[in-house]
Parts: sequence; C-alpha cells; structure tokens
Amino acid sequence: MSPPDPGLLDRDRRHLWHPYTQMQTAPPPLPIVSASGVYLFTEDGRRILDGISSWWVNIHGHAHPVLNAALAAQAARLEHVMFAGCTHPPAVDLAERLIALLPSGITRVFYSDNGSTAVEVAVKLTLQYWINRSEPRRRTIVALTHAYHGDTVGAMSVSEDSVFTRAFTPLLFRVERAHAPYCYRCPLGLERRSCRIDCLSDLEQTLARLADTAAAVIVEPMLQGAGGMIVWPREFLAGVRRLCDRFGVLLIADEVLTGFGRTGRMFACEHAQVTPDIICLSKALTAGYLPLGATCTTEAVYDAFLSDDRSRTFFHGHSFTANPLACACALASLELFERDDTLARVRRLEAQLQSGLAPLRDLPLVGDVRVIGGVAALELVSDRVMKSAGGYLDELGPRLAAAFLGRGLLLRPLGNVLYFMPPYVITEEETAWALEQITDVLQEVTQYSK
Ligand SMILES: Cc1ncc(COP(=O)(O)O)c(C=O)c1O
Repeated sequence: MSPPDPGLLDRDRRHLWHPYTQMQTAPPPLPIVSASGVYLFTEDGRRILDGISSWWVNIHGHAHPVLNAALAAQAARLEHVMFAGCTHPPAVDLAERLIALLPSGITRVFYSDNGSTAVEVAVKLTLQYWINRSEPRRRTIVALTHAYHGDTVGAMSVSEDSVFTRAFTPLLFRVERAHAPYCYRCPLGLERRSCRIDCLSDLEQTLARLADTAAAVIVEPMLQGAGGMIVWPREFLAGVRRLCDRFGVLLIADEVLTGFGRTGRMFACEHAQVTPDIICLSKALTAGYLPLGATCTTEAVYDAFLSDDRSRTFFHGHSFTANPLACACALASLELFERDDTLARVRRLEAQLQSGLAPLRDLPLVGDVRVIGGVAALELVSDRVMKSAGGYLDELGPRLAAAFLGRGLLLRPLGNVLYFMPPYVITEEETAWALEQITDVLQEVTQYSK
C-alpha cells in the first residue's frame, strides 16, 4: 500500500468541489489510494467493499490484470487521435463487437465521452433525423416520470423534473411526460398481480395527442436508476416498442446503466426482445476504466443523414471521441464477458440477492424489495400503509451510508432507496457478508426508530 499522505483530505478541502455533494455538510471524502477486485483501500489502511460499483461503472472488479494489460498495450501504440477524418483499430474493432452483441437491426455506432453525451447525441440525432426526413414538426420528445438521463442540458430536459434539475429550468426544453410502470407506487393505484399494464395507456394517449409532432420516446429499459431503482415489468417495455411503431416515432433506449449485463442480460432491451431505434451506452462499456459513450442506431436513421448537401451532416463531436485507450478497455471487457461467462455470474448474483433480501420484507421500514440482475433495491418508508418517505433528500440516506461505511461497505442510498450494485466479480461469501451488513443496519435502524 502507498504511504499515507497525511494532508490529502486537507488539500482536497482547500481546492476541490465534489459532484452531488453538499460541501458544507457532507462528511470528508474517502481517501482512496488503491483498489483491487471489489475492494477499495484508503490511505489510513481501511478496506471497503465497493457496493455500488463506483457509480455503476465497474463490472469485472478494480485493477483487473487483463484490463490493465490492454490499457498499457494500447497506450504504447496510440493514446489518442481525433476521430473526424481519422480512424483506428480499437474504434473499428469495438464497433464490430458491439453490433454483433446489440439487438439485431442496430448497425451504426457514434462515439462520445460519457452517459450524458450519449443521451445528448441521441436527442440531437432524433431532431435532425426528422428535419432531414422533411418532417420538421416532429420535435417533441416523450420521456417517462422518474427518468434520469444525465446532467447536461439535453439530458436534464428529458429527465424527471426534480431537485436535480429545478435550478436549471429556464435552460431546459419542453418534453411530454408519460407514466412509468412504478408498480410499488402505481400511478393508477393498481396492483401488479391483477393489472394489465394499464399505465401504458398514458403513453398511448400522449402519442395520440401529439400526433405528427412526436419525435421519440426515451426510456431507461427495465430499470430506472437514479429515479429510485424502479424495476419494470417486461411487458411495459414491449408495449413501448409497439406504441412507437404504431405512432411512427423513434424509440431511444438509454442503457447507460443497464447495458453490459447489469440486469442479467447483456442489454436490458433483450428482456422484451425489443430493438430500439437508438441505444445509449456508457458506464460499464469500458468496465469502469475510462469514460466513453456510444450512441448506436439503425441504418434507417443513419441513411437520413447521407446527402450531397453538407448541411445535413450530423454536426456533433467531442475532442475525445472514440478515445483508443477507452475503446481498448471496452474490447478487453467484452473478451472477459466470454472468458469468464460473466452473464452466468450475474444470474447467480441475482438469485442470491433475491433469496438473501426476501426476509427483509418483514421489517416495518421496508416498503418494497426489488431485484433485477446484479441490482438490489430496498425502498424504505416510515409508514408501510401510507408508503411515506422523504425522497432523494431523506436524511435516512446519509445516516445509512455512514453506518455502512463504519462496517466497511460503501453504499450511497438514493434518499430512502437503499441499493446494492456490486461489481459482478463479487464472490458468494462477499455478497453474503454485504447482505448481512444490510440486514443488521436495517434492524438497528428499526429498533432505533421504535
Ligand atoms: C440511465 C442513465 N443515463 C445517463 C446517465 C449519465 O451518465 P454520466 O454520469 O456518465 O454522464 C446515467 C448516470 O447515472 C444514467 O443512469
């Protein structure tokens, strides 16, 4: 382990500003000096299990030898070159691999830098697609309630109107919103056991009302992440595709979180055998090594931009588009998926999460337990009948995070939604240990609040 730097936190406090952090009240950041597998190591010698995959990006574990080697080998060959007017093997190899894995019909890859830019690209492609197709009236995007698509202006616009976006309202463009299938808090007050995915009718009515002004529907398929780890019935996703076909609008699947196995399938769209028109990828694309975004689409969308008229070009690009180091990590990650049968691991993890968390349903503060693939979420409430909860700013979140950290488990609840989303390499024993910590802490909180 590196020698401790006694002044790291002081130096951090003097000059840094951390994301999603109230700098006045938040506890000091964890001084992480190294990491390996599912563990992070602090400068003061603590070992902490990364229970949220470093903001959902890590899948094969930290400092993986195969990924390290791929990164080093690529750095020795070509670290970066601009992608307008140039190409390189990692970008081409990765595009070929992605297209082979993505739902059939997706044939084109447009690279960018991160999840938000992958969404920005999708939104801009959509608008220009309709202009290039001589249907400029189609400019309204339909998004779902509880959506989260990122923090840049376009991505915020299609996200839920929330504490995250409120200060920026004057910058945001108008979108139409339709119900998400949030079964625990059904927007129609129905029960999943007996409903017929009735919430889909809201999207149907919205698209009918918008008629030829609707451009696209954007969704986080199967799992809405930052909006509260809301797990969908697959029938809803299938229904969204049907409605997009019926009303002739594009379907954008934001798989920034769900892509690369997180929900138990390589891509969440596979749960309903759906091919979107545009799919956004990032986060685990590079196994959490480097920022990279990919917005992938069909030949039909791509063709709409081909012209002798250069004004129909897609004028979008970032300095680090298709960074070769990031592409090389992504390629190595896809090789690990095959070598280690990674998806089978996620399915085993899912089964363990399901059985391990089932007993927690009996705790009075647990309103709902949701598991999909390698993601488990507990929605905590102060009253089970009323389902009362404080939302993202619920003080319970920081309290729980501190309690888990004291036990060597890094979790960062979304307010009253506690979730566990470890790298897939977590062992059965490590998962059992983490579930034990979750159970103990929730039991303690239950006793404390009696
Ligand atoms: C579904 C989804 N889309 C987009 C983003 C934005 O990604 P990034 O943080 O890389 O900009 C996120 C981030 O959490 C996300 O969960």
